Amino acid sequence: MLRFLFFLFLAMVSLGNFISAEEPELVGVKKCKLCHNKASLGKQYELWTKEKHSQAYKVLGTPEAKAMGKKVGIANPQESGKCLKCHSTAYNFTEKRVSTKVTLEEGVSCETCHGPGSLYSKEEIMKKHEICVGKGLNPNPKAICTKCHNPESPSYKEFKLEQFLKDIAHPRPKK
Ligand code: HEC
Ligand code: HEC
Ligand code: HEC
Ligand code: HEC
Repeated sequence: MLRFLFFLFLAMVSLGNFISAEEPELVGVKKCKLCHNKASLGKQYELWTKEKHSQAYKVLGTPEAKAMGKKVGIANPQESGKCLKCHSTAYNFTEKRVSTKVTLEEGVSCETCHGPGSLYSKEEIMKKHEICVGKGLNPNPKAICTKCHNPESPSYKEFKLEQFLKDIAHPRPKK
């Protein structure tokens, strides 16, 4: 009997693990905007619309981008995974579109740096750092900058971490 209960216990534990192993998915910047455009949280959304990551898809439509594409045999950079992998969250570092919830127009948005938000984007969860991290929040967004800011970028400018972090700063208000 004891043995049976022990196996029952093990079976329940592994079922529990199976259920909680749900994968976080991309949700798009509109979801983050619901809360992160409030002054009390620091208006991260508005700050992002004023920095270049929010323009990363648009910039692929400029004559300059077209000329850069032409050199490597790409007719339309706004349709090429070879450019979009670094210029859009919808492609998320790959040459194929991985999400239709994220529009191309939002360029490089929150979830590229902070991780896919389907499981952590709830107020009770967001307030607890350790729990967010267990649900897909990237605990160290600084570490991923050079996945794009590297010499593979056809317009590469030397990446200076401290300076570049300052240029996109969007802190929470000090309490
Ligand atoms: C329902 C409201 C809500 C939504 C939706 C939401 N957040 Fe949050 N977020 C919060 C609150 C509240 C905090 C905690 C602020 C505090 O404790 O000072 C927070 C904290 C954070 C933090 C800091 C967490 C830490 O522990 O380091 C990040 C990063 C963040 N949010 C990113 C996002 C992103 C990206 C999205 C969209 C995918 C998003 N949030 C969606 C409310 C929200
Ligand atoms: C290019 C990458 C990048 C993008 C895009 C980005 N963030 Fe961040 N975010 C960071 C980094 C880096 C930090 C600082 C983390 C640190 O200090 O370790 C940060 C910090 C934060 C914090 C915590 C601030 C604090 O004081 O603790 C919140 C909240 C946040 N981001 C929300 C957002 C939201 C919402 C968006 C989209 C509207 C967004 N971020 C877009 C990289 C990014
Ligand atoms: C998914 C790829 C990607 C990641 C990851 C990324 N960036 Fe960027 N970043 C870009 C692109 C693309 C542009 C240019 C967008 C444009 O010109 O419209 C850019 C532009 C910038 C600029 C403006 C540079 C200029 O010439 O004015 C700064 C500053 C910057 N990024 C900082 C960061 C920091 C800091 C991180 C890490 C926290 C980061 N980026 C992570 C793709 C990325
Ligand atoms: C490895 C990632 C990466 C790839 C691939 C990439 N870019 Fe970028 N792109 C960036 C980053 C990062 C920036 C910001 C400037 C820099 O490189 O430091 C940027 C900036 C730009 C800019 C703005 C010009 C400027 O000086 O800031 C244009 C235009 C552009 N890229 C076009 C393209 C085109 C066209 C392609 C495809 C042929 C492409 N990029 C592929 C990462 C990338």
